[in-house]
Amino acid sequence: MGLLIRNGTVVAAETMGVADVLIDGEVIREVHRGIPPDSHDVLDATGMLLLPGGIDAHTHLDMPFGGSTSSDDFETGTRAAAIGGTTAIIDFAIQARGTRMRAALDTWWKKAESRACIDYGLHMIVTDLPEAGLEDMDEMVREGVASFKLFMAYPNVLMVDDATIFRALQQTSKNGALICMHAENGSVIDVIVRQALAEGKTAPIHHALTRPTRAEAEAVHRAIAMAEIAGVPIYIVHLSSEDALNQVREARDRGLPAFAETCPQYLLLSIDDMKLPGFEGAKYVFTPPLREKANLAKLWDGLKSDNLQVVSTDHCPFCFEDQKALGKDDFTKIPNGGPGIENRLQLLHHHGVGTGKITLNRFVEIVSTSPARIFGLYPRKGVIAPGSDADIVVWDPEAEHLISAKTHHMRCDYSMFEGFRVRGNARQVFSRGELIVENGQYKGRVGRGQYLRRAARGGAWN
Ligand code: URP
Ligand code: ZN
Ligand code: ZN
Repeated sequence: MGLLIRNGTVVAAETMGVADVLIDGEVIREVHRGIPPDSHDVLDATGMLLLPGGIDAHTHLDMPFGGSTSSDDFETGTRAAAIGGTTAIIDFAIQARGTRMRAALDTWWKKAESRACIDYGLHMIVTDLPEAGLEDMDEMVREGVASFKLFMAYPNVLMVDDATIFRALQQTSKNGALICMHAENGSVIDVIVRQALAEGKTAPIHHALTRPTRAEAEAVHRAIAMAEIAGVPIYIVHLSSEDALNQVREARDRGLPAFAETCPQYLLLSIDDMKLPGFEGAKYVFTPPLREKANLAKLWDGLKSDNLQVVSTDHCPFCFEDQKALGKDDFTKIPNGGPGIENRLQLLHHHGVGTGKITLNRFVEIVSTSPARIFGLYPRKGVIAPGSDADIVVWDPEAEHLISAKTHHMRCDYSMFEGFRVRGNARQVFSRGELIVENGQYKGRVGRGQYLRRAARGGAWN
């Protein structure tokens, strides 16, 4: 006996149509019209969309950063994700300088196992790369960590030099991993930041004013050039500006395998949101920063034209009262990051599909199918098809929802999207065939999420 979801509109990246979906255990067995109910449990999804579970390829749960630790752990963060229709995340383990990557992987496995409510993969943040580090990269790939993040920003903390970046890129030509780049020129930004502080500019807005879009564009250009020399693909994380997007477009126009993601905050918020009284702007201190409003439409265009392939959240929450407050007198001490894991599908559906900026197919592609392909999870995840995991969101396209810290499930005392009204929300969420969310309530067991071993040479390599 299985579960039969009847009469929903199954949305894929390329197609859409009314069909029944038969789930057998953890896996989808059939997808077509007129599956007989036989002895199956039946869920009527008339009028609903059936979406492949969302995949958030960029989250930071339980992460030590900026003198604090992100406030959502793997339990609270993945539960909030599930409620918003996300059934898999890819989080970041951090290799501490001078240590082996295996130690970081073990640490992050411990953080996640027995807590995660949905399936999770891991990227590895590389902070140094001695000879043994190259072997470590290969070992990580064998463990299913098929992508590595490197930082061109945060000098003395996470930033690595060009030689390190280039060696990591070259190693991926052997092991098939994907380098994910935080692309901002950290050295230049550091000079501007020091000058601002010396002039007494300590308020949160100066976080944004000291990180020009050219510093992002220059780093994107350099990262892509290094990948081109190494002959490998590259993926730019949390791209925030038209300036940076132009670099990706120019590369793609030349046929290079350059990929990039953006995040809801860069599509929907601007530097104006930081111009709040007192210290309130700290709620929007993350990196890259919010940009001038003119960038927003360009990023939506980028999604439409496939110069941006993915929308992730870069969920990295810090509570306003006791964590962001670390930087009350100095914006450089504000922990960088914001909460968003719960609201990605709602925001993209409402502001993307609802306004006609993107189609429903493209919506599914950028929140699920494309991250699954690029990060080695497809076709297990990212599509509603026979043989795939039964990660399915029964999406009510008419449901109205008010986003607020008063009702959200993220462990954070504010919302970046406070007061946003959205149309379209998850009614039920299935993860590997199990009903884990119904009408905004998490029904699953804590710790049920499984580690995802991801395949190397994913979609970015084809
Ligand atoms: O401000 C941000 N983005 N915090 C998380 C770390 C990162 O750079 O992704
Ligand atoms: Zn980053
Ligand atoms: Zn991040």
